[in-house]
Amino acid sequence: MRTRSAAETVQIDVFTLFPQWFEWFRSQRHVRNALVGGSSVECVDIRAHTPLAGGQVDDVPFGGGAGMLLRVDVLDSALSAHYGVDSTQLRAERRVIALAPVGRGLDEQLAAELASEPALTLLCGRYEGFDERIIEHLCSDVISIGPYVLSGGELAAMVVCDAVLRKLPGVLGDERSALEESFSAALKGAPEYPHYTRPADYRGWRVPAVLLSGHHAEIERWRHERSLERGARADGGGQG
Ligand code: ADE
Repeated sequence: MRTRSAAETVQIDVFTLFPQWFEWFRSQRHVRNALVGGSSVECVDIRAHTPLAGGQVDDVPFGGGAGMLLRVDVLDSALSAHYGVDSTQLRAERRVIALAPVGRGLDEQLAAELASEPALTLLCGRYEGFDERIIEHLCSDVISIGPYVLSGGELAAMVVCDAVLRKLPGVLGDERSALEESFSAALKGAPEYPHYTRPADYRGWRVPAVLLSGHHAEIERWRHERSLERGARADGGGQG
C-alpha cells in the first residue's frame, strides 16, 4: 500500500446549511487536540451567502423528479465570498470536495492522501444533492463514505474530518494507535488484530493465553496471523 505522511496541520472549511451540527464534533477531545495543535475545522453557512431572496439555496430539478438541488449560483457566491477569488480558481489551490453518495469511496489511502494536504474545502449537499455544474466547475473531488444515501453531506464531512485529523501528529493520545491500526501500512493494509483488556477471564471468556505470556515475538506472530486471517475472511465476504 502506498503511504503518504500526514501534514502537521490541516485547515478544513466545511460549507454547510447546518453549521451548528459541527459544534458537537468540534468539542470532541481528539478534534480539540487537533484544533489546539493548529488545525482548523471552520464552518461556512451557505445560506448566509445566498444572493437569492428569502434565503433560498435550492431548487427543483429541470426535467422533473423528486427532491431539491443545491443551486450552483448559491455555492458559487458562498465560495467566492469566503475566499475572495473566483470560485473556479479555487480547486487549483486546494482540494474542493463535494460529499455525495456517488463518488470516490473513502478508505485509509484516501484519508492519508487528504491528511497530507494543507487545506481542504468540504461541500455538504442537502436534499437530492448538488446541481451537477457545482461538481463539474467548482470541485476537484467527489467523495462518498459508502454506498448508501444520507440526508445530507454533514455526517459524511464529519467522517472525512475524523479520518483525516486522527492522522495528524499529537491528535490521538498514543501515536502508536494510528500507526498500527486496521488497513495501516504497518499491517500491510490488512485489518487490525483483535484486542483484549482486563479482566483476563470474564464468565469463562478467556483472553488468548499468548497475550498474557509476555513473549513479545510470539505475541507479534499471533497478532500478524490474526490480522491475515481477518483479511482473508473480509475478502471472502465474511466478517471483517
Ligand atoms: N451525501 C449523501 N449520502 C452520502 C454518502 N453516502 N457519502 C457522502 N456524502 C453523502
